[in-house]
Amino acid sequence: MSYETIIVETRGKVGLVTLNRPKALNALNSQVIGEINAVLDGFERDPGIGAIVITGSEKAFAAGADILEMKAKTYPESYLEDFITTWDRIGQRRKPIIAAVAGYALGGGCELAMMCDFILAADTAKFGQPEIKLGVMPGAGGTQRLTRFVGKSKAMEMCLTGRLMDAAEAERVGLVSRIVPAADLVAEAMKVAAQIADLSLPAVMMTKESVNRSYETTLAEGVRFERRVFHAMFAMADQKEGMAAFAEKRPADFKNR
Ligand code: CAA
Repeated sequence: MSYETIIVETRGKVGLVTLNRPKALNALNSQVIGEINAVLDGFERDPGIGAIVITGSEKAFAAGADILEMKAKTYPESYLEDFITTWDRIGQRRKPIIAAVAGYALGGGCELAMMCDFILAADTAKFGQPEIKLGVMPGAGGTQRLTRFVGKSKAMEMCLTGRLMDAAEAERVGLVSRIVPAADLVAEAMKVAAQIADLSLPAVMMTKESVNRSYETTLAEGVRFERRVFHAMFAMADQKEGMAAFAEKRPADFKNR
């Protein structure tokens, strides 16, 4: 399948999606989101893929939802088409997705990065929710996810003023997992993704599911959920192999990866 707004590659067990609308700083229109979802559908079905990286360009991961596409929308139109709801599917994927962010990750770009499982940032990365300057507010989860990442005070300040956060601040407050030099960003993200893809795929997917559960439930329920999944893991051949390999002081040879 060919795509017009993204570049898709597979390197070993890692799928790489590069947003590719350079003239619009990777602004996310309905075609981009449709193409990302189509390629993620394929990666989810492909047993040869164990992890995914989504990245942009040096200048912009993505400068937001496409303002030109949405500026004339009416309330009934956005309601009837359920505008933005298809974006949510990106955050509901079961295989791990790393966002590798250089340059601007603004508005929907910041929201897309936060839908991924973790964010690796280049030292050039800039995050923000500037929608308030357009007379609106974040609409792809920004008011909710940013608040969970960085806490109410900082999220409120960013959403109410549109102030951008640089990579150092984003790392300090836990929005990104790590900062790497811009020139190494994609290579580092691919390396981390390959490490994950080399592990037991069901163990990785269950771990992702369990961490995500912490956003949706109480601590007691979350811990109960974790315990059930942990117990279930003892039915997996990969658990037997992983622990046998440790005991025998050899590398594990996981079958389900
Ligand atoms: N939508 C559509 N086009 C965009 C865009 C966007 N979000 N962001 C940038 N572009 C386009 C510009 O219109 C410009 O196109 P032309 O060359 O055809 O004029 C091109 O990308 C380059 O942009 P600039 O000339 O503005 O580049 P710059 O380096 O001077 O500034 C920037 C970069 C600060 C990121 C600036 O482009 C900017 O502020 N962009 C908008 C950021 C924004 O408001 N994002 C939120 C969008 S709303 C949203 O995302 C809603 C939601 O929650 C789902």
